[in-house]
Amino acid sequence: MITIEGLQKHYGDIKAVDGIDLEIQDGEIFGLLGPNGAGKTTMISMISGVLRPDSGRITFDGQNIWVEPKKVKRNLGVVPQEIAVYEDLTAKDNLDFWGSLHGLRGPGLKKAVHEALERVGLQDRARDRVKTFSGGMKRRLNLCMGLLHHPQYLLLDEPTVGIDPQARLAILDIVREVAAAGTTVLYTTHYMEEAQELCDRIAIIDHGQILTIGTLEALTRQSGESEMLKVVGNFDEASANQRLSGISGLRLIRVEAGAVLAGIDASGPGLLEILPQVLESGLSIDDVSIQKPNLQSVFISLTGRELRD
Ligand SMILES: Nc1ncnc2c1ncn2[C@@H]1O[C@H](COP(=O)(O)OP(=O)(O)O)[C@@H](O)[C@H]1O
Ligand SMILES: [Mg+2]
Repeated sequence: MITIEGLQKHYGDIKAVDGIDLEIQDGEIFGLLGPNGAGKTTMISMISGVLRPDSGRITFDGQNIWVEPKKVKRNLGVVPQEIAVYEDLTAKDNLDFWGSLHGLRGPGLKKAVHEALERVGLQDRARDRVKTFSGGMKRRLNLCMGLLHHPQYLLLDEPTVGIDPQARLAILDIVREVAAAGTTVLYTTHYMEEAQELCDRIAIIDHGQILTIGTLEALTRQSGESEMLKVVGNFDEASANQRLSGISGLRLIRVEAGAVLAGIDASGPGLLEILPQVLESGLSIDDVSIQKPNLQSVFISLTGRELRD
């Protein structure tokens, strides 16, 4: 179990991480979801023992990484946000080098490199220089380096940024396999779809703080809405506010000129009663769409902003 208590890191006035408490259970894939600048990299750097916290405690099965760094790091695989491979070396040479830094040698190293390359599907390209690789292949190699020594804990910082959808799916599959084999995974992302598809539990973070935490189901239920309504048309913000705000059971989440996002209260009169009132509100409406609540709507409910790429 990873236990984080009172974790804090400030840069001058910027509260990059501002008092985080978190427990990550063995074997789970835990997602840290937040927009750019939320504090994800700062957090993962402190958890992986690279960046010293201003205050707080981080323990892995009771062992404090800042007190016994060598001992803890042996069980830790880290995949940084910035790809950390040598472009002029082959994939295999990168892994040999990385493995030797982790104390692997001889047949043990050979086996680990072979297995890791196989796991990420790069065995055929082992002897090619990394600079000939696609973005997705570099990401997979980056992931490989975190897996080489079969860590008990794997920390991944936005491992799919900048690659195509197919390469992204390949990475998500590898993470699932690694977790299914018993590794505890901490996964940061700003893609809500990834958090939704991959993670057993999710913490939504913004401005260095946890806004909410739970399973996908719990988070969407907690938002208190049964459906989300998106109304698009030719209207201004003031008239949308005026004409929609009186409708009982409709919670306006974001109102702007031409577009309104609203939630249908799970405990209210329901969509069938509310929809006609919206359509007859007198607004010039072009389109109404209905969605199940998802992490996007949870995020908007909590912050009033959209979680964008
Ligand atoms: N070395 C640093 N010096 C000053 N500010 C920093 C530094 N690293 C991060 N920050 C600031 O801390 C906040 C969190 O950054 P970061 O942890 O990189 O967020 P994320 O990974 O979620 O995008 C941002 O406002 C960022 O500008
Ligand atoms: Mg980051």
